[in-house]
Amino acid sequence: MSTPELDGLRAVVTGGASGIGLATAILLAGRGARVAVLDLDPSGAPEPLLGFTADVSDDESVRTAVAAAAGALGGIDILVNNAGIGAAGTVADNDDEQWHRVLDVNVLGIVRTTRAALPHLRESADAAIVNTCSIAATAGLPQRALYSASKGAVLSLTLAMAADHVREGIRVNCVNPGTVDTPWVGRLLDAAADPGAERAALNGRQPTGRLVSAEEVAAAIAYLASPSAGSTTGTALQVDGGMAGLRLRPEPRE
Ligand code: NAI
Repeated sequence: MSTPELDGLRAVVTGGASGIGLATAILLAGRGARVAVLDLDPSGAPEPLLGFTADVSDDESVRTAVAAAAGALGGIDILVNNAGIGAAGTVADNDDEQWHRVLDVNVLGIVRTTRAALPHLRESADAAIVNTCSIAATAGLPQRALYSASKGAVLSLTLAMAADHVREGIRVNCVNPGTVDTPWVGRLLDAAADPGAERAALNGRQPTGRLVSAEEVAAAIAYLASPSAGSTTGTALQVDGGMAGLRLRPEPRE
């Protein structure tokens, strides 16, 4: 019998109690890693995941939770910076407070968690960081000015971190999902005037004709996190149903 791919590795996943983060935590654990979930409310993370309460917008909270997770796991080899929040609107629509809040969670959240985890990652022979970025980093989506700015920063930060830490043996990559069928998108659909029409529009925006599943994003994150991706750093892996790269002709009308 072969050993599970991530056997012996220790992983921390932020925002790991829901959606993409939860699917990732479950997959990493299924492949043999011991996994700690950091979340505002970690109660959604089932065993064997270890839950730690943390707010990535609060440095003290992050330091305490990362230290506790590293203590419980006996170190950290894999950090998945996934916690994030959304925002809708054009540049005219969000006030300064909303801009600060979203950038604080989506961008500085990665900075804080990575800063706290770095001493542990430096001790690992298989250190990897994977950030959850977005198609919004590379394609102009309507009504997503603030969110897109935050994910553009995540993409650039991923590249800069990859350069800074490559000689320490720490790989840094990100995934760029299209629209993923998570509780987050469920909330967006619920808030739409016509949820069915909104879902059809989101499905239709992706060349595959359907939303991405959280498990598909988790599989990409698990690949980038694993030692089998040992020569891959400073990349963005699209998991977007072809949205970033394909240009289809409109379907013929009946
Ligand atoms: P979700 O809302 O289902 O899960 C997000 C998790 O992050 C929740 O458990 C929440 O409690 C946690 N969280 C939020 N703020 C936090 C904070 N300050 N500190 C700690 N934890 C916090 O969302 P989903 O869809 O799984 O999104 C996860 C990531 O994927 C986000 O970074 C999002 O920007 C990104 N993403 C999502 C897409 C989608 O269509 N759902 C598409 C592209 C990227």
